[in-house]
Amino acid sequence: MDTGKADKMKSDALVLFGVTGDLVHKKIFPALYAMAKRGALKVPVVGVASSDWTIEQLRQRAEDGIRSSGQVDDPQALHQLLSSLRYVAGDYSDAGTFTALKQALNGARRPAHYLAIPPELFGCVIEGLGKSGLTDQARVIIEKPFGRDLASARKLNRIACSRFREDAIFRIDHYLGKEAIMNILYFRFANSFLEPIWNRNNVASVQVTLAEDFGVAGRGAYYETAGCLRDVVENHLFQIVALLAMEPPAYQGYGAVHAEKAKVFQAMRPLSPDDVVRGQYAGYLNEPGVAKDSDVETYCAVRLFIDSWRWQGVPWYLRSGKCLAMSDAEILVELKPPPQHLFDDSAPVNSRTNYVRFQLSPKAAIALAARVKRPGHEFIGEQRELFLLDEHADEQGPYELLIGDVLAGNGALFTRDNAVEAAWAVVDPVLKTHPPAIRYKPGSWGPKEADKLIAPDSFWHNPAPRR
Ligand code: BG6
Repeated sequence: MDTGKADKMKSDALVLFGVTGDLVHKKIFPALYAMAKRGALKVPVVGVASSDWTIEQLRQRAEDGIRSSGQVDDPQALHQLLSSLRYVAGDYSDAGTFTALKQALNGARRPAHYLAIPPELFGCVIEGLGKSGLTDQARVIIEKPFGRDLASARKLNRIACSRFREDAIFRIDHYLGKEAIMNILYFRFANSFLEPIWNRNNVASVQVTLAEDFGVAGRGAYYETAGCLRDVVENHLFQIVALLAMEPPAYQGYGAVHAEKAKVFQAMRPLSPDDVVRGQYAGYLNEPGVAKDSDVETYCAVRLFIDSWRWQGVPWYLRSGKCLAMSDAEILVELKPPPQHLFDDSAPVNSRTNYVRFQLSPKAAIALAARVKRPGHEFIGEQRELFLLDEHADEQGPYELLIGDVLAGNGALFTRDNAVEAAWAVVDPVLKTHPPAIRYKPGSWGPKEADKLIAPDSFWHNPAPRR
């Protein structure tokens, strides 16, 4: 895979719009600190926001974000980051804010502008940057959610493309920067044994679960505008599906990966209300920022089909939810059982025969499952998993990795305009027309109706409780 472009293409400043916000506090400052520790933060960081803060206040906020995410074990790196910070306070609709930003950039000519702001402000900031000549050799990083439906995603793409070239636009989906998810691409195409079985002839179904054992955690107001389908299914889970389902890239280079992933979204059958089960955990209505009569889903299960040569007829089941029994993310690629049931014990009634299981979090694992005979006279067996990987990787955090990639101009792990629009086109029909959200008990695996959704083809793989 491409790892980046020549040095002269490196960004020479990082601008954080929305620097006083939650995302920067929780994710971006800790990522910048981690970069500073590795000696990989070599550019000044300019924060922009409307709050009338002093640079000292911003430094305190940054330090607080870093300390809340873990230990500060490298005071020198912390000092380097804090002293590289600059702050511009101003309204995004005021041209003066961008003049002040230009001054704060102090001659930097290739800034990377990170829009850690609500999507309704993207247009205004991109215009402001354009009019003050701050887009010429710049890059822009756009946080998810990239739009809230197909129409708004198209509009956003138009706005971004009016001032930036497509290869200067970095749409972040932090799942693409996760070690275990990068490994899906590697595992699929660095091996030859999978290819003969990785298709409709051998795969019975695929399921992806992203379960969280906590609620909306103070993000009720945001969640009301999103819901589970928009928050994680259409982006994080779809990205996982694309990596599992894509054809081999035709050449070594990230353009080929982007092209193949986009084709997967284009081949997905648009969802219909029968393909969706929506749930809401009991207690959600009491969360701050949530409407008392809200029907927003905190759980979503989806049946998906990819109408391609490889995947025709194979059902893909995706589910995610808050306040579930545990926090865990797993994929199960279930293979078809043998054509004949020669041994009574291996009849696949509520048991599985062969599958490939990827655990994405809390640890990274890849396991191949098969049945083997137990010692003894009887032909009775049991299922075993052969682990190819099973570790708590000491990984670089996704934001750290992705910000580094933007600064280096490496777009491999970002999403492209056509892929984003094609993904929205799949969920668009059920964003407004859908079954009502079914109440479920916190600590459960969500509404029982989701079991019925998958029942014709399989049953959900609920990860084993951890001791
Ligand atoms: C975010 C969603 O994009 O992803 C959150 O907004 C969700 O609601 C989170 O909890 C999950 O990411 P991770 O990396 O914690 O699995």
